[in-house]
Amino acid sequence: MMNLVIFGAPGCGKGTQSERLIKRFGLHHISTGELLRDHISRGTELGKIADSYISKGHLIPDDLMVRVLAHELEEKKDSASNGVIFDGFPRTIPQAIALENLLKEHQAEIHTVVGLEVDEDELVKRMIQRGKESGRADDNIDTIKERLNVYHQRTAPLRDYYKKQGKYLAVNGNGTVDEISEYIESALAPQN
Ligand code: AP5
Ligand code: MG
Repeated sequence: MMNLVIFGAPGCGKGTQSERLIKRFGLHHISTGELLRDHISRGTELGKIADSYISKGHLIPDDLMVRVLAHELEEKKDSASNGVIFDGFPRTIPQAIALENLLKEHQAEIHTVVGLEVDEDELVKRMIQRGKESGRADDNIDTIKERLNVYHQRTAPLRDYYKKQGKYLAVNGNGTVDEISEYIESALAPQN
């Protein structure tokens, strides 16, 4: 089993690199952002709550987010895969602790946290560009600024949290999509 967390600021390439990693290593992909956007587009109760936070660039409260994640893991537990790649979760220390406990119930753990490190002006450039092309609702300059603030205050501390556990793989995420995925795949391959 190889359970990974793909970690980093908004726009760093978590979704893009996850697509590569799930194919290379045969993993399930759980993106909490995509999951919530799907609920928003279907107009579910969860979607309505999520929208009120996402549109402001704020995080969904931990207790709700952990329940959503636990449900998703339960759904996936019987289907075959070599592990899960968690994209956009955990985003706070309490979420990291909850994930650890949930995985323990399945005698599993996080092997590596792949940290995509990208310069802030590049992050903003990528998200503005995507906002123009796909119209993702939170890709406008005001919401982007708030997402980055929230990242620095609440999510960035997880870097040290996982470094202390010896699980953090620092990846320069400024290059091309291919360069980055080749680097990650070669760093992970020996463990597989
Ligand atoms: P989420 O969907 O997770 O968004 P995010 O963290 O803001 O990150 P993005 O999805 O914008 O970027 P990404 O890192 O996936 O990069 P991507 O590959 O798309 O969360 C959205 C919201 O949901 C949160 O703000 C929060 O409200 C809520 N939420 C989600 N999870 C939560 C949780 N656990 N707890 C509480 N709330 C939660 O790439 C970005 C762009 O750049 C793309 O256009 C891509 O094509 C391009 N690109 C990618 N790589 C490169 C490259 N190497 N060079 C050039 N361009 C590139
Ligand atoms: Mg994403």
